Amino acid sequence: MELVDTAAHHGAEEIAREFLEHGAPFLWPELPDLAGLTPDRIAALPPLPYGDPEFSARLLREQTDTTTTDSSRPPAVVKRQLAWLRHELPEWRAGRVHHPLCGPGTYAAALGDYGLTAYVGVDAGPAVVQHARRRFAGQDHIRFVLGDAADTAASPGEPACDTLLLTYDAANFLAPRAFRELLGSLVRGLRLGGIAVLDLRLAEDGTAGFDEGRRVHRRRTGSVFRDGPHLLLSEGFTVADGALLGHRIVAVDDGPGGRPPEVFHSVLHVPTAPQLTAALTAAGLDVCVRGRPFAGSGDPNLARHLVVARKQRITHRTLPWRQP
Ligand SMILES: C[S@@+](CC[C@H](N)C(=O)[O-])C[C@H]1O[C@@H](n2cnc3c(N)ncnc32)[C@H](O)[C@@H]1O
Repeated sequence: MELVDTAAHHGAEEIAREFLEHGAPFLWPELPDLAGLTPDRIAALPPLPYGDPEFSARLLREQTDTTTTDSSRPPAVVKRQLAWLRHELPEWRAGRVHHPLCGPGTYAAALGDYGLTAYVGVDAGPAVVQHARRRFAGQDHIRFVLGDAADTAASPGEPACDTLLLTYDAANFLAPRAFRELLGSLVRGLRLGGIAVLDLRLAEDGTAGFDEGRRVHRRRTGSVFRDGPHLLLSEGFTVADGALLGHRIVAVDDGPGGRPPEVFHSVLHVPTAPQLTAALTAAGLDVCVRGRPFAGSGDPNLARHLVVARKQRITHRTLPWRQP
């Protein structure tokens, strides 16, 4: 969303000051006050434009920057996470892996040490998928599909997978009903005895990273949101007792005569552990492991659970002939 540039005649310092004091609607009255939004309206906010080629290129830049955990799990984090999983589930072998919202290929690379035989990653970002395909060129057992995970979940004709991965909040991206639908469709492609691995935020992980209120971040060389020097005016919010967490971010050029400001939202749907267990059980999965691989870390991006659930039976949601 591009905002009417009513703040254009102000300097960046002044915009930052007024934002911190009064909030974004003071500068752009067309923006609603987040505190007044109902959970339904928060859930209906547009997601980040993952499919936009330019956004995807900027996201990839951050995903391949190993010094930040903001946009993906860096190799060292993936390594620790998989080692934790192997420790908890010593008999686990990755086998055939299906990985919606896969990112730039870090998991595909790391799973080589865990008995990977075939990998299909799905990502909506054109630059992310192009990067991953280039990285694994010539390794025919590792494939990346460009598309929305919701459209590519059921892949008739593909052999059933052994491991379904939903990493870095993938399970938090969808509202509860949409998540249950997608899960049913994904679990249809999982063999009996196979496991789903969810790296996600549960209500029990708290609200760290979303409870900081208004912040101004100065970006001198670009961010996920735009290129060049700019400010990110960010408002964290927690709604419905933490069932919805998010940020509204306004990107504003740092300097006169710049581009119009743009607004972005990122929202996570956060179940409690019992709610997640109920959704997994309805999909025919039984939880066999639940824990915090990064307990004690001060990084809010690592305040997550790893939940592993095994497909024990076929339910009405996962009947093999059920259409998505
Ligand atoms: C937070 S990143 C995490 C990537 C990866 N799991 C990791 O840890 O490195 C989310 C990724 O999901 C992709 N994505 C977001 N929504 C998607 C959707 N509906 N379908 C497919 N991919 C999506 C984005 O392009 C991005 O690469």
